[in-house]
Amino acid sequence: MNTIKVNLGENSYNVYVGGGLINEAKNLFNLDRKVLVVTDDGVPSEYAKQIAEQCKEAYIVTVPQGEGSKSIETLSLLLSEMLNNGFNRNDCAVAVGGGVVGDLTGFAASCYMRGIDFYNIPTTVLSQVDSSVGGKTGINFGGVKNTVGAFKQPKGVIADINTLASLPDRQISNGLCEALKMAATFDSELFEIFENEIPTEQLEKIIAKSIKIKVKVVEEDEKESGLRRVLNFGHTVGHGIESLGLGYYHGECVALGMIPMCTEGVRDRLVPILKKLNLPTESDFDIDKAFEAVSHDKKSTSSGINAVFCEKIGTYTVKKVTLNELKELTENAKIY
Ligand SMILES: NC(=O)c1ccc[n+]([C@@H]2O[C@H](COP(=O)([O-])OP(=O)(O)OC[C@H]3O[C@@H](n4cnc5c(N)ncnc54)[C@H](O)[C@@H]3O)[C@@H](O)[C@H]2O)c1
Repeated sequence: MNTIKVNLGENSYNVYVGGGLINEAKNLFNLDRKVLVVTDDGVPSEYAKQIAEQCKEAYIVTVPQGEGSKSIETLSLLLSEMLNNGFNRNDCAVAVGGGVVGDLTGFAASCYMRGIDFYNIPTTVLSQVDSSVGGKTGINFGGVKNTVGAFKQPKGVIADINTLASLPDRQISNGLCEALKMAATFDSELFEIFENEIPTEQLEKIIAKSIKIKVKVVEEDEKESGLRRVLNFGHTVGHGIESLGLGYYHGECVALGMIPMCTEGVRDRLVPILKKLNLPTESDFDIDKAFEAVSHDKKSTSSGINAVFCEKIGTYTVKKVTLNELKELTENAKIY
């Protein structure tokens, strides 16, 4: 087992990474109380059951899979379940699932009785390497993603690699793209693992290293006022493509979005890895429409947008570019 400490003063916690750790939950978390175990109907139900069996008094809630569950209605369902079962401030909630379940459950825990303990058991690669660390929780509201939420650090996180065995290949690659993004901008050794080995055979190593990067960034910038934005490498153009609703997963849009933000040397190393992971490296999308969405990006101002570039593997630079410059880079990168 790999134990990674997140140092955030009184909000500090551990992230445990390893195979089979879900069965160790009662030794790693305080489950000796009422526990709301939240999962979705796409996650194999035995994971939540395995957690429930280790709790003093568990209540499992299974929400529909998909982004639609990050809603005020589902939040209300979780809060009602806790209220109707007499949960008090000393009880807790555990998320067992991907980023949707984690964001939703974390937010419910942040507001029930002004905040109860929250544990996260992420079961997708994306949620293990990204959303389970950092305390960003929330729901979608008014048709806008993540509009209502809170910073709520979990009390502990278990990234059980064995839970990924049931995850479809496309979801594995989707999450690995976020790990690759961190490798490109922070860690040349991790990048070389992607380059020289078969990433799906190195999941534990890749996930642990990625979590360490995310932890370092979060420790320096808990409330996302500066450095944490560096994690948006590939996301500016990626969000533009994602907004077109072409059926791509988030990580697939990030894959396309990273390509224009690299020097040629970096691109020559990045693209073969994206191909190896079956991630898209070109796509038939409408660049004008994509850039219409980029111009509405909350990071975009009239003088331009602060964008993250990778000029050398393992490093990043942040540069202010105009939308036209960014569009030209995208055109030249030939991703569409
Ligand atoms: N809080 C943050 O910092 C942060 C960061 C990145 C993304 N997010 C959020 O995370 C969400 C995306 O997360 P995601 O990619 O994990 O998607 P997800 O939670 O929708 O999970 C993807 C699919 O995989 C299924 N699934 C989950 N675990 C499984 C398993 N072990 N085996 C088989 N199927 C499984 C789910 O049922 C779902 O259908 C978005 O809502 C996004 O906004 C949050």
